[in-house]
Amino acid sequence: MLDVALTPAGLRRCDVAVVVDVLRATSTITQALASGYRSVQCADSIDRARELRGADCALAGEQRCVKPQDFDLDNSPVEATRCYADRLVLATTNGAPAIVAATRLAPTVLLASVLNLRAVLGVLRDRDWPERDVQVVCSGTGGAPALEDAYLAGRLCARLPGPRSDAARLAQALAAAHPSAGAALACGAHAATLRAAGLEDDIAFCARESVLDVVPLVVATTAGAATVVDLRAAAGTVGDVPPSAVART
Ligand code: MLT
Repeated sequence: MLDVALTPAGLRRCDVAVVVDVLRATSTITQALASGYRSVQCADSIDRARELRGADCALAGEQRCVKPQDFDLDNSPVEATRCYADRLVLATTNGAPAIVAATRLAPTVLLASVLNLRAVLGVLRDRDWPERDVQVVCSGTGGAPALEDAYLAGRLCARLPGPRSDAARLAQALAAAHPSAGAALACGAHAATLRAAGLEDDIAFCARESVLDVVPLVVATTAGAATVVDLRAAAGTVGDVPPSAVART
């Protein structure tokens, strides 16, 4: 069964969760791994991220779209094009907590963005994962659905085989109503917030479709945090990581 949770409140037990926060957390994580960070530790709060700070680590994140004063980097995919350390610790309002929450209910958690749409579809299709119970989890904004997340969920579902829930059909209809990722990302409420904060470059950056081969996979969890690496680095080659390979601590 293919399903979509339009907000993290709809998270449920499933075999594979694909977490989406197009603007901007899953785009930033995907870009960070492509840029050379070996891992990204997603933290469920700003304080948790501070606890995770350590050697060879950069601290990134936002509160109301603004970098906390003592952090090194914003939650910006553009900033993530440069690699400053081995490990990136990321705390964001909606995306990072949604990733941590998904690890409590799914043994396999992948992250998707427009940047790695084709790569994520490739992984889902190449395995028998579409035959399993797959839920695309939209991070939303402040507990409400976000148009850009539902759009990407719809794009994913439209290209995957098998039975699907009404929520998946709704997301597909939304995706079909937009001519391009750029158009969809530009018209949501969070895009307006980012524009008002002077962050419009991030919107255009996040709308670039299938430009990265990275597929972020959660490989470990600790209290309130989830460690993400590129699936290829976790497996040696794409196609080798069974869901059971995901470590839990
Ligand atoms: C979030 O997780 O809420 C976001 O990625 C917000 C943002 O930084 O645009």
